[in-house]
Amino acid sequence: MSSPAQERSSGVQLLSAVLLLLSLSGCLSMDVLVHNNIDALNGSTIRISCTFTSCYKMDVTKFSMNWTFQETLNDTEDRFMTFDVKKGMVPLRPERFGERVTFAGNLDKNDLSITLSDVKVDDVGIYKCHVKNPPDRIQGRGIIQLNVVTELPPPRDSTIAVAIGASVGGALALLILSMVVVKCLRRHRKQELISDEKMEEEGKLDCEGVAEEGTKQP
Ligand SMILES: *[C@@H]1O[C@H](CO)[C@@H](O)[C@H](O)[C@H]1NC(C)=O
Ligand SMILES: *[C@@H]1O[C@H](CO)[C@@H](O)[C@H](O)[C@H]1NC(C)=O
Ligand SMILES: *[C@@H]1O[C@H](CO)[C@@H](O)[C@H](O)[C@H]1NC(C)=O
Repeated sequence: MSSPAQERSSGVQLLSAVLLLLSLSGCLSMDVLVHNNIDALNGSTIRISCTFTSCYKMDVTKFSMNWTFQETLNDTEDRFMTFDVKKGMVPLRPERFGERVTFAGNLDKNDLSITLSDVKVDDVGIYKCHVKNPPDRIQGRGIIQLNVVTELPPPRDSTIAVAIGASVGGALALLILSMVVVKCLRRHRKQELISDEKMEEEGKLDCEGVAEEGTKQP
């Protein structure tokens, strides 16, 4: 016979096991992934990406999604693309984007991305990707602020990163090279002392060039 205290503690254990399983499988919530800020160059074509994760495989008869646009937070959200069971992703409101917006995702991969071509200054605003994937009860939403620039800023951060990466890489290469040289030199000396023919052959194969370079100095 188990006491109430024992029952309670096994209940707690069961609950934490279930929670652990849920979090391991990533099934605690639906998530919509977007880039929250996009700087688009005037006149260029950009991809506005939106993907989602869900515990449930997409069932097209229940799935629902809308792309909306609003110029500012005070404006109403206008749907400009939606999902239709029969037609798939369909653009709406051609008066705003015309033919410039196209679906560029892959429903099999939960990818709802679009491309916007010939970006105009008027396209600045808030883009939202709304997703419902029943039986997932959470309605997901990704929010993107699109800015239009006439000149892209120089990619300073990545240049610095590349410079750091290159110098670290260069230093590492130098270190490895000097280690090889030292090793070969040692081996060469050892060979001279022992003057074992077989060992000399090996040494020649391994580091002849480097060893010769190293032994030029008296
Ligand atoms: C953006 O590009 C268009 C042509 O593609 C041009 O007419 C317009 O002046 C540009 N806008 C700015 C702010 O540079
Ligand atoms: C939104 O409207 C409020 C007043 O209703 C105004 O104070 C605010 O500046 C507006 N914001 C934008 C981004 O237009
Ligand atoms: C998309 O818009 C339609 C029509 O307004 C609405 O019925 C549906 O629930 C919306 N879906 C999402 C995920 O917002």
